[in-house]
Amino acid sequence: MYAAFRSIGAYVPEKVLTNDDLAKMVDTTDEWITKRTGIKERRIAAADETTSDMAVKAAEKAIERSGLKKSEIDMIVVATISPDYFNMPSTATVVAHKMGLDKVSAFDISAACTGFIYVLSIAKAFIESGMKKNVLIIGAEKMSAITDYSDRGTCILFGDGAGAAVISATEEKENAIIDLHTASDGSLGDFLMTPDGGTGNPHQAELKAEASFIQMKGNETFKIAVRTLTNDVVDILQNNDVAAGEITHFIPHQANYRIIKAVGDALKLADEQVVLTVHKYGNTSGASIPMAINDLYEEGNLKAGDLMLLDAFGGGLTWGSALLPFAGK
Ligand code: UT7
Repeated sequence: MYAAFRSIGAYVPEKVLTNDDLAKMVDTTDEWITKRTGIKERRIAAADETTSDMAVKAAEKAIERSGLKKSEIDMIVVATISPDYFNMPSTATVVAHKMGLDKVSAFDISAACTGFIYVLSIAKAFIESGMKKNVLIIGAEKMSAITDYSDRGTCILFGDGAGAAVISATEEKENAIIDLHTASDGSLGDFLMTPDGGTGNPHQAELKAEASFIQMKGNETFKIAVRTLTNDVVDILQNNDVAAGEITHFIPHQANYRIIKAVGDALKLADEQVVLTVHKYGNTSGASIPMAINDLYEEGNLKAGDLMLLDAFGGGLTWGSALLPFAGK
């Protein structure tokens, strides 16, 4: 049995936060943000809109497009670093309940911006082992809830949103996920972290809200991201005897246009092969890849059999890549 990427869906909150809006909040400019990141605007969820609310909207689209009945989903895995509740219940169980799927296996994983590649690997493993048939995977983030809007080094980057996909069992090898790679380096965990709120820092008498916000060594992260991602995509293509020219869509995690450009250039990809959404959504962490796949789909540019190369890098540190055909309609 193989695992196939059967359908995609996403949800984008209505409120737009532009670079000019941010320039009124911190010492920055549209010109600086555009030049250093490629981001022009990002979406921000409503105050009462949770990560699970966004996840459900993305998931319902993905299920509808899969042609399956909701009841045929036998597992839900959510990648998020901005869950509804920090310890429990998991966002996946909240999503399952809101969708009327109370008996389904459901859990979250934490792999920051690489989250979607990790949940894809979990779906693949469960399906290929014969344990599950139709796995709903979701990347959903309310990054605005864990972002410090007085820190210009981070608040210009992040946005909110959700993306979901249905991964199904198939006997057709041409529809199968071809290869997938995930990795981590915990020695560089302090490059990107939310330092407080967990047992790693238990002795604080009073929890300060800002200690739960993202802190990032941006420039160091940038350099490692470019080097690691370039090696990772070169390896996955070589290991599978696939030439860069055969990739229909390179769909990287959308953190920074300059990172995407550097990796794309290393592979000598043409502009038409590279999918970009960073200008309109910013960095939505685990949601960015499925949101980008969904845009491609809704624009009519994702066809059955198109070969997709995914890559991502983020907190942990974690990274990964995947090579797969789109097996939807
Ligand atoms: O998604 C997970 C992985 N995350 C990433 O991959 C993020 C990787 N990092 C980045 O995207 C970039 O490092 C940033 C966009 C965050 C920063 O760009 P940079 O080119 O690495 O700038 P920098 O941090 O080296 O800062 C350069 C200068 C500094 O000023 P001085 O020290 O040269 O006077 C900063 O204080 O730019 C300053 N700066 C800003 N200026 C205006 C930093 N943030 C801003 C800002 N507006 N928003």
